[in-house]
Amino acid sequence: MTTAHRGLADVAEVRRLDEHDPVASMRDRFAVPVQSDGSDVIYLCGNSLGLLPLTATDYVNEVMDEWRRLGVAGHLQARTPWYSYHEVFREQGSRLVGAKPCEVVMMNSLTINLHLLLTSFYRPEGSRTKLLMEMPAFPSDIYCLQTHLQARGLCPEEHIIQVRPRQGSDVLDTGDILAAIEEAGDSLATIMMGGVNFLTGQVLDMAAIAEAGHRVGAMVGFDLAHAAGNVPLRLHDWNVDFGAWCSYKYLNAGPGAIAGAFVHERHATNTALPRLAGWWGNDPDTRFRMHLEDAFVPVPSADSWQTSNPPILSMAPLRASLDLFDAVGMESLRSRSLRLTRFLREQLEAVPNRRYRITTPQEAEAHGCQLSIAVDGDAQQAFETIESMGVVADFRPPNTIRVAPTPLYNTFEDCHRFAVLMGQSFGTLGT
Ligand SMILES: Cc1ncc(COP(=O)(O)O)c(C=O)c1O
Repeated sequence: MTTAHRGLADVAEVRRLDEHDPVASMRDRFAVPVQSDGSDVIYLCGNSLGLLPLTATDYVNEVMDEWRRLGVAGHLQARTPWYSYHEVFREQGSRLVGAKPCEVVMMNSLTINLHLLLTSFYRPEGSRTKLLMEMPAFPSDIYCLQTHLQARGLCPEEHIIQVRPRQGSDVLDTGDILAAIEEAGDSLATIMMGGVNFLTGQVLDMAAIAEAGHRVGAMVGFDLAHAAGNVPLRLHDWNVDFGAWCSYKYLNAGPGAIAGAFVHERHATNTALPRLAGWWGNDPDTRFRMHLEDAFVPVPSADSWQTSNPPILSMAPLRASLDLFDAVGMESLRSRSLRLTRFLREQLEAVPNRRYRITTPQEAEAHGCQLSIAVDGDAQQAFETIESMGVVADFRPPNTIRVAPTPLYNTFEDCHRFAVLMGQSFGTLGT
């Protein structure tokens, strides 16, 4: 594509944006899939699966090599001993989500972490039994909350409060969330919401929700799947009680990668808090006394929510990605992200006679990388056409296309190329 389209930026201008952005792209540190003609795909799917950081292979190979050479001795003798491998993420993980090192642990998968954390932070008692969530929520969260209640003999229909967008609106109104919390009052045991909504990309006001929840005596936690590595978080300062996230989206740690969990210091150090325990949550100094010690001694940190010994091979790639987050810094990444997403929105809105609208909020504090686009007509068919032209994005029935220019590896040119294809498929932009 070499020509400018009326209303959209011209290609030379877009390339200048890429050359002069104050925060340089790290694209050359990632494997970007290519099309059959050898050109890069327009990869806008970091909200689903982030790309491979090239050094991830080295971190994985290191583990494979040490396993080959050392066998079981790798637990203590590997360059990064497997026994304490999870500890390498403490500092980096805490920077990522705005926490203290004792508040963060990488473990398991996201939904499992939500279940483990709800065991500690959903403690229905007397008339305080309600759980508050948002709709639309990711299905796994819905199933998690419903079955968590059922497992305790409570009826989900009776005990779950759902806050929805108002009629005619795509996104949640913060005032409505706060009002629902206040209305639930002392019947509310726990709030569990997506910090960034999976469908619309809306960023919730987590600080305000935590404050409102605490005012009525509830625990407050967030599913941060679409937030971690996307928007700056200050979980400790916001006083959030618990949180969990996956690492395969914006954190680029690979399919099914190790997930993360946050437990606020005031709970992390409370060893009396009920939890589902396993040996890896036990004090590492006595962990190997095995049958000699049958009493669980929780480590006074988020580590004590670990149950099993962690999957080292699924942790290794995360190191590569977090190195890059550290090299750039979350604040710089966010500034680049805001420029990319604003540019993408402008380009999409410059398309003449477009048959779509962007449902993600426009205000900077209410969105991250992702833009969600609600399309008129046969959305699925048109999306498949765009895909065949080299776009990697995702489609959520009935009519939503989600795209996320991620600041580590996406460019202004990716945004422009995508907007042109949208203009040709869902507008009257010529080819
Ligand atoms: C918001 C949200 N919650 C939960 C999940 C489920 O994650 P997992 O399969 O890692 O448990 C996802 C996966 O994409 C998600 O986006």
